[in-house]
Amino acid sequence: IPTLDDVNFTNSKVLVRIDINSPVDSKSGKLLDDSRIRAHVETVKELVEKGNGVVLVSHQGRPGDSDFIDLEEHSRLLQKHLDMEVEFVGDVMGPYAREKIKNMKLGSVILLDNVRFVSEELIEASPLQHAKSYLVRRLSPLFQGYVNDAFAASHRSQASLVGFPLVLKSSAGRVMEREVSALAKVFNPEDSPKIFIMGGGKVLDSLRIIENLVKRRLADRILTGGLIAELFAVAKGLDLGKENLQVLEKAGVLGLISRARKLLLSGAPVEIPVDFKVEKGGQVHEEPANKVTGIIKDVGSTTVNIYSSFVRDAKVIVMRGPMGVIEDERFRESSRALLKNALENQGYVIIGGGHMISLLGGEGQIDKSKVHVSTGGGALLLFLAGEKLPALEALDMSAKEAMKA
Ligand code: 3PG
Repeated sequence: IPTLDDVNFTNSKVLVRIDINSPVDSKSGKLLDDSRIRAHVETVKELVEKGNGVVLVSHQGRPGDSDFIDLEEHSRLLQKHLDMEVEFVGDVMGPYAREKIKNMKLGSVILLDNVRFVSEELIEASPLQHAKSYLVRRLSPLFQGYVNDAFAASHRSQASLVGFPLVLKSSAGRVMEREVSALAKVFNPEDSPKIFIMGGGKVLDSLRIIENLVKRRLADRILTGGLIAELFAVAKGLDLGKENLQVLEKAGVLGLISRARKLLLSGAPVEIPVDFKVEKGGQVHEEPANKVTGIIKDVGSTTVNIYSSFVRDAKVIVMRGPMGVIEDERFRESSRALLKNALENQGYVIIGGGHMISLLGGEGQIDKSKVHVSTGGGALLLFLAGEKLPALEALDMSAKEAMKA
């Protein structure tokens, strides 16, 4: 994909698609986290420093949900982190927004409103179709270029993500570029051995990723924790007891046991915990995986030791989701220990989601040259599952068109 080094925008008006979709407190309506906002500062600063007028566009939430709000608070946070004025324009493509864009000065920054206020944006269609959308036709004549920095939304084939690259000179922003090059390590045979640590609660997503990793022989080992570990344990024939089966049933994942069993039978390099930390009668115990009597809340210390020995020799470590119920301090230790081990080793560490970083008490302590914390949720999952991301494809199409011209 073309980057800001390939397409050098200077003294132009540039439309920049960012993803500052953030968690919102349902009571106060306030943003709970600004990490995605901070992530885009580098791209915006660079474009401003090169004399461009920067118009930012993002979505927030989905219609009908409580986090479907305007971007005014986002603009204030962006202004704080950029340390320069960001003008919030409460419109996306109407006369007001277009007038503001026409009259803006080079070197200044505007944030348009939630692009999903435009109904067209919610349609998933091809880049060609979206290139003809009202959104693209109304906004593109006002710009000389388009930058897509919204990796976290790149799995959506929506107008603001795929329509502009076909009609404007286009490039990926720095967040997009960093995500794609960091995650490419997953597919590079030279960066090996590769260890995938899969935990958390999204069992179907994790299973899909594991199936793909196995099919494409991408992982040397897949270490499981969280609910996916329980699923594999049951698939292997371990009796985890009635209560833990009920947890799996409630999560709606019992139907996935046969898929997990098929993977195990095919010789997939999936590791299952040998012991668990369980809660029983308000007490916490460690129990071997074949003699579980309490409710599973985390993996046990022997498992952490075994997993750590795999992690020590890895060249690439992908960590997706915690091993236990980390919301509860008593079940945080194994995820923290594994993460620490991964960060102390020489390999490259890719971390999915801010949850894991919070285990260390923030991003301040990590060495950015060997750790990549992805901004992506669904996009990261699909990328790791080897699926094509429409927004990247559109940038690719734009680069090919530019080469032809
Ligand atoms: C995300 O939070 O994963 C992205 O911002 C995409 O949001 P969406 O799932 O509502 O398209």
